Amino acid sequence: MHNDDHNEGQHAVTRRHVVSGSLGLTAALAAGAVGATGTAPAGKRPVPVAGTFLWGTASSAHQIEGNNVNSDFWLAETVKPTLFREPSGDACDSYHRYEEDAALAAGLGFNAHRFGIEWARIEPEPGRFSEAELDHYVRVLESCHKHGLAPMVTLSHWTVPRWFAARGGFENAESPAQFERFAKKVAERLGPLMSAATTFNECNIGRLAQFLFHLDTPEAKAGVKAMLDACAKASGSDRFANVLLGDLAKSEANMVEAHRRAVAALKAGPGDFPVGLTISMQAIEGVGDSNKASAVADLLYGPWLDAAKVCDFVGVQTYTRIRVGTEGPLPPPDGAEKTGAGYEFYPQAVGNTVRFAAERIGKPIYVTENGIATDDDTRRVAYIDGALNALQKAKADGIDIRGYFHWSLLDNFEWTAGYSQKFGLVAVDRKTFVRTPKPSARHLGGIAKQRRSL
Ligand code: FCB
Repeated sequence: MHNDDHNEGQHAVTRRHVVSGSLGLTAALAAGAVGATGTAPAGKRPVPVAGTFLWGTASSAHQIEGNNVNSDFWLAETVKPTLFREPSGDACDSYHRYEEDAALAAGLGFNAHRFGIEWARIEPEPGRFSEAELDHYVRVLESCHKHGLAPMVTLSHWTVPRWFAARGGFENAESPAQFERFAKKVAERLGPLMSAATTFNECNIGRLAQFLFHLDTPEAKAGVKAMLDACAKASGSDRFANVLLGDLAKSEANMVEAHRRAVAALKAGPGDFPVGLTISMQAIEGVGDSNKASAVADLLYGPWLDAAKVCDFVGVQTYTRIRVGTEGPLPPPDGAEKTGAGYEFYPQAVGNTVRFAAERIGKPIYVTENGIATDDDTRRVAYIDGALNALQKAKADGIDIRGYFHWSLLDNFEWTAGYSQKFGLVAVDRKTFVRTPKPSARHLGGIAKQRRSL
């Protein structure tokens, strides 16, 4: 380690699932529940993405690595009261098993790998960067190249260092500069090994959470406040803030600025790769005359689609649809099939969202997340087929879709839902960490192997 700077729903699911995916936000909350030089080694240049359709899986650092002890989420999972069903603990131990995961993904047939690097490990104290952890991620990136996977790296997938949260997170006016410092360090050391990068994962998650699940009710606020107060107390702070559950009015403009600066840092080199932003985009479908669908789409996605204009591409992340009537969101139709995360089984939603994103911004699109929580793998296969079918039609209509990343390779830590929701193509034994591919893994991997494009 060296020191750079000393100064430096109403129709949702079960209790506690406050932050399980962008959509697993809970009604219960609403009810008050509480070495390297930066130069890629010869022969290990990043797989170029131009002209290649990327078939991959997506993950985040916190959800698979395990023991992310310097992060704000680790603290939130372990304080009392907490909204988390269980702590992340060892997760999938991918911090040690990244090579096995890359080999597995490549063996299944994928040519790309989306994952996160963990800011809390890389900069465990303000301005103190860990060379050893940067080296770790150099090795992770190299293992992708070794197995022929193009790495798409997420800089920030919801978790932040504890010190950053304890200073108010993105509610702090200094946060854009702090994020930029991190992004510059990452660009210098890891940039030459990246095939693509994104700044924030689902930057608009706060908007979705408020709109769908009424996080602004007194009961919801009390539940979140109790947990964040406990985090503040544990870290000696009077303004501990979480990226998902904080005050949007104070944080969003700072996040937009942090994103803008991070894009510039990544584009400045020494790497040379496309940079994007991922947005949680569920298909918004209007029901009835004078429904509010279009206003809702503007509210949920508009500002962040604007922020993506500085990017090379948009990452679209879709799991279901949201039906909107004249008063606001409606529950799924009677009798509709629900996924294990409580929302409607509606794989064709992604066809609508890529069209919407393309119309609004006119940039190339990667589907950076799409998937289903289920214990019945045959429904995952059906979901994949439905989604790919919808994407094929969109592509035939001229939408510039450059890749599909399925959430997720492994059954992993699904935020407040803990390990109860299974989004993986591959099962993970919670004690031995042994990975066992499900039939859906062979199904999607087989498609990836056979098809050069959708
Ligand atoms: C998305 C999140 C991802 C995962 C999936 C199920 O909203 O980006 O981390 O939780 O949902």
